[in-house]
Amino acid sequence: MNRDPFILASGPPTRNAEMISRAFDIGWNGAVTKTICLNHEDMVEVAPRIHRVNNGLKNIELISPRSVEEWVEDVRFLKSKYPEKTVIASISAEAGNIAAWQKLALMMQDAGSDALELNFSCPHGLPEKNMGNTCSDIPEAAGLITKSVKQVSKIPVWVKLSPNVTSISYLAQVCVGNGADCITAINTVKGFAGVDIETGKPILSTYGGISGQTIKPIALKAVSEIASLVKCPVSAAGGISTWQDAVEFILLGASTVQICTEVMLSGYEIIHNLSQGLADYLGMNTLDNIRGTSLKYVTSFYKLDNTYKVISEIDFETCTKCEKCYISCRDAGYQAIDICYKIDKEKCTGCGLCSAVCPAECIKVTPVILRRANK
Ligand SMILES: Cc1cc2nc3c(=O)[nH]c(=O)nc-3n(C[C@H](O)[C@H](O)[C@H](O)COP(=O)(O)O)c2cc1C
Ligand code: SF4
Ligand code: SF4
Repeated sequence: MNRDPFILASGPPTRNAEMISRAFDIGWNGAVTKTICLNHEDMVEVAPRIHRVNNGLKNIELISPRSVEEWVEDVRFLKSKYPEKTVIASISAEAGNIAAWQKLALMMQDAGSDALELNFSCPHGLPEKNMGNTCSDIPEAAGLITKSVKQVSKIPVWVKLSPNVTSISYLAQVCVGNGADCITAINTVKGFAGVDIETGKPILSTYGGISGQTIKPIALKAVSEIASLVKCPVSAAGGISTWQDAVEFILLGASTVQICTEVMLSGYEIIHNLSQGLADYLGMNTLDNIRGTSLKYVTSFYKLDNTYKVISEIDFETCTKCEKCYISCRDAGYQAIDICYKIDKEKCTGCGLCSAVCPAECIKVTPVILRRANK
């Protein structure tokens, strides 16, 4: 694997060799191709298929409408022009069609791909054809496909899992148990974009995949859970838009970080800030040294320390007297803040709501030891 952890995730920024070449020229060192299948004629797009939601996107884009033969040419071209860069072929077939998975794997391996990424996770369109998320829905199918591709593959086999399942970490364990060399988590989160209240018509009239900053907490949870349970590398995806986001995922165990939506919003050039920011953060340190070092702080609820609480304190130097903390504590907290912003230390339970709503970020917390023993 290349020196930096940043990889273009499978999606619009990796539609073909021309686009991936441009990304490589700008500074990306790795890319996962848009997902390749044998039934590409079925991949007929609707328009529009991308919509802005909160800090992210909802999309109903399908996998690549280009033929596997075209992709073979693309990967050959990319590997001959950029032998030092990493090209990962994302592939997809019906959950029960093992022969198709193996055929795709062999074709993309022979084309020179550095690894395969098995797409078990597109949440829209594909499940209606027994593909994509269907493979994550049935862990036995995910295990069998992984094992069957491993049987024919000489290159590493990554599996890309869906967050739209009961337990993504169980699914990861099944795939690793069947030979997966890396787990990519996560694909998009299934959702609905909204309804135009003037016309009554939904925005994109079917369920689609939510991506970008809005899904980062879901991805962080998935990656930390998987990294603490499986021994193989984890490739993080989901809401990574800055080098700081990338560091968070690496501290929680990710080996590589994949980015799609932020590139769709801001272009390939973001790689410069990502690489520079990470290099400055690391200084003389290495990725291997920091990887997974935050996992020891992640615990289950009943192991949390409840022998102390925190008391809020307002910094009046920066407080703008906007009343938000007063209103929230009054109507959803413990009525500990009065209209003059005086905090009653007896009433304050340290819930954190006032700090969460303060736009000036001027509420500090002070730990106070309680007498009760930890349960
Ligand atoms: C428009 C769009 C198309 C995508 N197409 C694919 C795809 O073909 N194959 C795939 O594995 N993931 C696909 N993804 C999912 C991304 O690779 C990524 O897992 C997900 O968007 C979360 O990362 P992000 O928040 O950086 O976008 C697509 C995402 C978007 C937004
Ligand atoms: S921490 Fe909770 S209870 Fe204490 S002042 Fe803030 S909102 Fe009120
Ligand atoms: S929310 Fe923050 S800025 Fe607004 S009144 Fe409270 S402490 Fe001051």
